Amino acid sequence: MLPNFSPVIAGTMLWGEWGRKLDTYSISDLIHHCLLHGITTFDHADIYGGYTTEADFGAAFIQSGIKRADIQLITKCGIKLITPNRDNRVAHYDYTKDHIIKSCERSLANLKTEYLDLFLLHRPSPLMDAAEIVEAITLLKDQGKILSFGLSNFTPSQSDLIRQHTPVSYNQIEFSLTHHMPMTDGSLDYMKLHGIRPMAWAPLGVVFKESTPQTGRIKKVLQSFNKKYGSDDDTLLLNWIMRHPSKIIPVAGTADKNRISRLKLADTFVMDQEDWFELWEASMGQKVP
Ligand SMILES: NC(=O)c1ccc[n+]([C@@H]2O[C@H](COP(=O)([O-])OP(=O)(O)OC[C@H]3O[C@@H](n4cnc5c(N)ncnc54)[C@H](OP(=O)(O)O)[C@@H]3O)[C@@H](O)[C@H]2O)c1
Repeated sequence: MLPNFSPVIAGTMLWGEWGRKLDTYSISDLIHHCLLHGITTFDHADIYGGYTTEADFGAAFIQSGIKRADIQLITKCGIKLITPNRDNRVAHYDYTKDHIIKSCERSLANLKTEYLDLFLLHRPSPLMDAAEIVEAITLLKDQGKILSFGLSNFTPSQSDLIRQHTPVSYNQIEFSLTHHMPMTDGSLDYMKLHGIRPMAWAPLGVVFKESTPQTGRIKKVLQSFNKKYGSDDDTLLLNWIMRHPSKIIPVAGTADKNRISRLKLADTFVMDQEDWFELWEASMGQKVP
């Protein structure tokens, strides 16, 4: 049985060293705030904060007094970065059995938990051997250290390599109104066909990061919809993603309490079909053919 994730997942990439540099109290407070507003699932990776954010979160989780069963934890392995606390000479990927197992065990220790609800391979490696990967994953599952397994940034053919040996439950990919190619290049169709649930990272795309004719067009349409849906720009962008039939779960990167308190609203309405296409049209800068 798959874990019961919240409709929107909280991404922790920018909570620590790589972003807000929150202290233990503030992270604990933010975890409580997420739970209060219906966000119970937290997305991590071993590398976040230069291999520090998992441990920051783990310390805060212990301090929060929240029961483990009340949250779900996702983390990823496989990227080896050059950072002061690692001995890597060249940034690379490592999917050897030994590294996968050690990385999982280190994440468990950092996050102060006995199990991960979901363990993902962060990025495909040209050198990965699917059979070896699956040996590690099977062992971790048998030991009860991971409840479910998935991929991140894997193409359909790379996913097939893994699926030859074991079922894949999730693939976390970049997807948003401004990065919508997975909808038309077969990636999301493939996932739907094979029972792989997509998760979308950077779900707001570049809408708040860049000021371009594209983001200008998008913002204009969003503003015209806010009143109709009793919503705001971020919520509409998440709702647009969730309208896709592959049932994409957005991984939202905000660490802002006001924005977090509105995330769950994205799951409370169904966007009218023509409105959905109007937003896509605004992103593409042209009508659908
Ligand atoms: N699997 C992968 O390869 C991969 C890659 C990248 C990320 N991820 C995961 O995906 C998560 C989300 O990624 P992301 O951070 O790129 O996602 P995002 O939710 O698209 O972007 C978050 C950023 O947008 C800002 N923001 C949100 N709403 C805003 C608004 N209304 N106006 C202005 N700025 C706004 C946030 O700032 P505030 O904090 O101030 O709201 C934050 O800096 C990460 O935390 C991580 O867990 C996975």
